[in-house]
Amino acid sequence: MTIADELQSTIVQMVQPGKGILAADESLPTIARRFAPIHTESTGENRRAYRTLLFTAPGIEDYISGVIEFEETLAQTTDEGTPLSEALARRGIVPGIKVDRGKGPLALSPGDFITYGLDGLAERLQQYKTRGTRFAKWREVYAISKHSPTAHGISASAEMLARYAAICQAHGIVPIVEPEVLMDGDHSLARCAEITETVQKEIFYALHRHHVVLEHMILKPNMVLPGSAHTVKVRAEEIAAVTLRVLKRTVPAAVPGINFLSGGLSPEDATANLNAMNTNFPHVPWQLSFSYGRALQQPVLQAWSGKPENVALAQQALLKRARLNGAAQRGKYLPSMESSD
Ligand code: 13P
Repeated sequence: MTIADELQSTIVQMVQPGKGILAADESLPTIARRFAPIHTESTGENRRAYRTLLFTAPGIEDYISGVIEFEETLAQTTDEGTPLSEALARRGIVPGIKVDRGKGPLALSPGDFITYGLDGLAERLQQYKTRGTRFAKWREVYAISKHSPTAHGISASAEMLARYAAICQAHGIVPIVEPEVLMDGDHSLARCAEITETVQKEIFYALHRHHVVLEHMILKPNMVLPGSAHTVKVRAEEIAAVTLRVLKRTVPAAVPGINFLSGGLSPEDATANLNAMNTNFPHVPWQLSFSYGRALQQPVLQAWSGKPENVALAQQALLKRARLNGAAQRGKYLPSMESSD
């Protein structure tokens, strides 16, 4: 099989109607923050138990086509000793991995961030591949303030995403390109739209310069939203309209899938917004789906609370959110489905 065939077969498996991606790639500090409210210590064993619960939840393969793992998880196994990636692959779910090493300030550019992890990436990908990994994820982060992100910051982050994506494709790994314009702040919907458009334009220009094959990547953007401290509540239909206006202006039709991050939206809002996009824009060239972390896992963490006796309940909570988001991918979600479950 050529590298192009390998990338294409991964895309076909990941981009399927009614299915999306589960992001379970929280880094050590992030998973500790998620465990804190449920009074669960972030030990290796607790992280293994939690991710086993997620990956072995009965029925999720009907709605989840891929899972993004954290590096540590690749070495962990289920209670029966099956590697967690293999447990996913056996059910037809594609295992992937977050390969970036987190963000920090972009030197000499106040307010801008840059993500680390390109050094040694090619070698790491080769190792991950021997453990069944078929796609990767890299996140660049953009905080909105009066003066940021700057044009320089946007260009530096685009270069990182494009270099990462090119290295992945050279090794037969499908890159998820994730530019996240953060919700933090009191900015308007229009300001988020302006920044998101500029960020995505710059990214596709950089991907072109780096010879990235657009048919063999997935874009994981933010939805266009007002800042979380903005006073005006915006309806899902308006979020869908503005988000699609930005995507149509910036994302070439060759890209097969756009899988949104949830970015701190409530599980219900993340589902309703995705549904509005698929209901109101059924004829766009890309498949619009989800790659949610918090919006899929929040109810699961609450149901589990770190207790083995709650595992089945927590798995049902994951199946419910996966099913409702699967419905939203098809534009068939109704808020009434929340309570009838
Ligand atoms: P959220 O859906 O919680 O934003 O997480 C998605 C993700 O992968 C962030 O990098």
